[in-house]
Amino acid sequence: MIFTTKAVLLFAGMTLPIAAHALSLNITAITANGTGSSIFECWSLCAPLETTTQPGLVGAASSFLGEVANMTYTVTSAGFDGGDHNAPYNQWVVPITGFGIVTLPDDPAAGLYVAKDMPNGIIFAADTADLSHVGHGALFPGYTSTILLQIPTLGNKVPEHTVLHAGYCTSNDTIGLATL
Ligand SMILES: *[C@@H]1O[C@H](CO)[C@@H](O)[C@H](O)[C@H]1NC(C)=O
Ligand SMILES: *[C@@H]1O[C@H](CO)[C@@H](O)[C@H](O)[C@H]1NC(C)=O
Ligand SMILES: *[C@@H]1O[C@H](CO)[C@@H](O)[C@H](O)[C@H]1NC(C)=O
Ligand SMILES: *[C@@H]1O[C@H](CO)[C@@H](O)[C@H](O)[C@H]1NC(C)=O
Repeated sequence: MIFTTKAVLLFAGMTLPIAAHALSLNITAITANGTGSSIFECWSLCAPLETTTQPGLVGAASSFLGEVANMTYTVTSAGFDGGDHNAPYNQWVVPITGFGIVTLPDDPAAGLYVAKDMPNGIIFAADTADLSHVGHGALFPGYTSTILLQIPTLGNKVPEHTVLHAGYCTSNDTIGLATL
């Protein structure tokens, strides 16, 4: 009886710290601060990163990103300058080829590199007109076109998250996800 109790406590003591630090995906968000300026933040999503049991991908790291409204494939030409604009609605942006630079009109020193090899490969754009007075800029300075998927969330939902830190996510905010 005593042995059983001790064994259970030991098990609980070992599992609790792991549960408290469940892995979740960190993603860069373009959002706005309290005075209506667009800013970058590194968000830690509340949805857990799990190892999937889906046939064909068994054991791969996977994070459910929530329901989405639709998906648009967009190709910008080399050198295109989109100017300052608000996110039209809350949406995921997934770069496929090429690269872009997102600028912040109220913080000229900040620039976010958007490409498939950025940390975790996906961003969330949430600086809609109700939150940000001019939004963000988008430049595509490469010599080739850039392809992006734009995926608005269903019902304009913002994924549940905590703010890990101000500024975009860096290489410090990503582990080798394939090694989960
Ligand atoms: C919002 O960001 C702008 C530019 O980055 C800054 O000047 C302003 O003080 C910030 N406002 C708040 C409430 O942090
Ligand atoms: C895609 O979804 C957004 C957000 O819900 C919506 O505003 C937009 O009209 C949709 N686009 C099309 C072509 O249905
Ligand atoms: C990562 O963290 C280290 C230690 O805090 C820091 O020196 C380094 O500048 C960070 N790297 C990036 C890309 O932010
Ligand atoms: C998220 O970022 C934190 C530190 O900023 C890091 O400890 C954690 O491993 C990151 N999560 C993933 C899944 O990359």
